[in-house]
Amino acid sequence: MREYPILSADEAAEMIHDGDTIAVGGFTTAGSVKVITKSLAERAQAIHARGEPFTVRVLSGASTDVAVDDALANAEAISYRLPYQTSVPLRQRINARKVEFLDMHLSSMMPLLKSGALGAIDYAIFEAAAVYRDGSILLTSAVGAVPTFARLAKHILIELNAYHPNDLEGLHDIYELDLPPRTREVPIYRPSDRIGATLMRVNPAKIVGIIPTDVPDHGMAMTPADEISQKIGENIAQLLVDEMHAGRMGESFFPIQAGVGNVSNALLSALYSSPAIPQFCMYSEIVQDTVIDGIDADRIRFASSAGLSVSPPVLQRIYSDLPRYLKKLTLRPQEISNHPEVIRRLGVIGINTALEVDIWGNVNSTHVCGTHLMNGIGGSGDFTRNSFISIFATPSTAKGGSISAIVPHCSHVDHTEHDTQFIVTEYGVADLRGKGPMQRARTIIDRCAHPDYREQLNEYLDMQKTGHIAVKLQGAFMFHEKYAMAK
Ligand code: COA
Repeated sequence: MREYPILSADEAAEMIHDGDTIAVGGFTTAGSVKVITKSLAERAQAIHARGEPFTVRVLSGASTDVAVDDALANAEAISYRLPYQTSVPLRQRINARKVEFLDMHLSSMMPLLKSGALGAIDYAIFEAAAVYRDGSILLTSAVGAVPTFARLAKHILIELNAYHPNDLEGLHDIYELDLPPRTREVPIYRPSDRIGATLMRVNPAKIVGIIPTDVPDHGMAMTPADEISQKIGENIAQLLVDEMHAGRMGESFFPIQAGVGNVSNALLSALYSSPAIPQFCMYSEIVQDTVIDGIDADRIRFASSAGLSVSPPVLQRIYSDLPRYLKKLTLRPQEISNHPEVIRRLGVIGINTALEVDIWGNVNSTHVCGTHLMNGIGGSGDFTRNSFISIFATPSTAKGGSISAIVPHCSHVDHTEHDTQFIVTEYGVADLRGKGPMQRARTIIDRCAHPDYREQLNEYLDMQKTGHIAVKLQGAFMFHEKYAMAK
């Protein structure tokens, strides 16, 4: 049993040295670190003003609150970052090659970390709703990578955040996997199965500071779905109804994984508004507002995720009626929420968003025109490769119609033709299953491309007369070149 030192955020930031690796908790803005990294950014700026270097290597579960990535990037205090981010200033520094960024599958990070291949962690910094003397910890609105970070780190700093109620016990399902050859199966047979502990346990001797705070989760701002997202959502809902009528959904509807953003919101609304679709579950990496609406409408039976990426009013709705939501929600470590074995076993329907898709079915989710990082692959690869039904959605054009999102060849490939099954735009659905390359190409052009681009895509396809795949080196990037020249 042990008393922990109570520190201010500035005192905690003082402990961190130039070149240290910090591993921050949270998953999206949910449960993110909120004060220590802000102080660290201020400290870095003061050190830089004296003409001395100061940067840290930053690991996270996924994207973070602005207090982490934005603050540290603006302070020029990050040298290395993985596995995912959505911060505008950080993205700019990555694209300017000032920050080394590793774009990783979210489920792959933990085994690599545990093996030591990603180096040591100096400080795990995360948020808690309660910390007990024996090292038991009640996490807040996310689990993400925290259990692994906390176990591997040399030292632990905890933001004890009074914004989150301290009676959240039961929301989290903490389960960690051993490395091979001791890795065991993950015994989740339904999205609602709980297999781990409600509290996380750490070595109390590693806790070097508790930092009391009361800063809210900033949440994810949702804008109302536009007409195109709405249409894409409806097309996906119809696709799933057709699969159900064809008898390919088992005895009940398969669990859904849906990425972040407007298309996902529109899709989930379309799904639970459709009388043709029965009650369903989510086995996803995030839960956003529409999922909670679906639970409240009794259309979503249960949601499993790594974090509650909801708006502040919706988080308060959950916190004010906790006993009811504890029966409907669980938060897991991302090595479990995104685990290939579980995704396969449950027959998940994976629905993710693309920047561009080529006529062969390859998908670019991350690099605009092949060079400039947008966010990262996140969990999209974990789900795409392993889902029973794997869907990519995108508006048919980007940048006000000046570039087609259906291209002859992707300028960067995150998900290959071997893993994608359905491509969906506002124009329709291309079912790629069972089709060879040329059939896939015609289907994607006919069903998904914007009518303004179909002729050029068909001409491209007709130019190369031989080969299993009709890639013509000249012209493969014709849309990208035209777009780059017009910019
Ligand atoms: N060519 C050039 N620019 C393009 C483009 C294309 N084909 N497609 C999109 N863009 C630009 C948009 O214009 C927009 O630019 P802006 O920021 O200057 O406005 C930006 O890329 C983002 O596009 P948007 O249409 O707003 O997309 P989104 O918010 O639906 O996000 C992804 C799409 C692919 C960036 C996003 O889904 C993502 O990061 N995915 C990878 C991670 C993931 O899938 N996680 C899933 C598990 S949660």
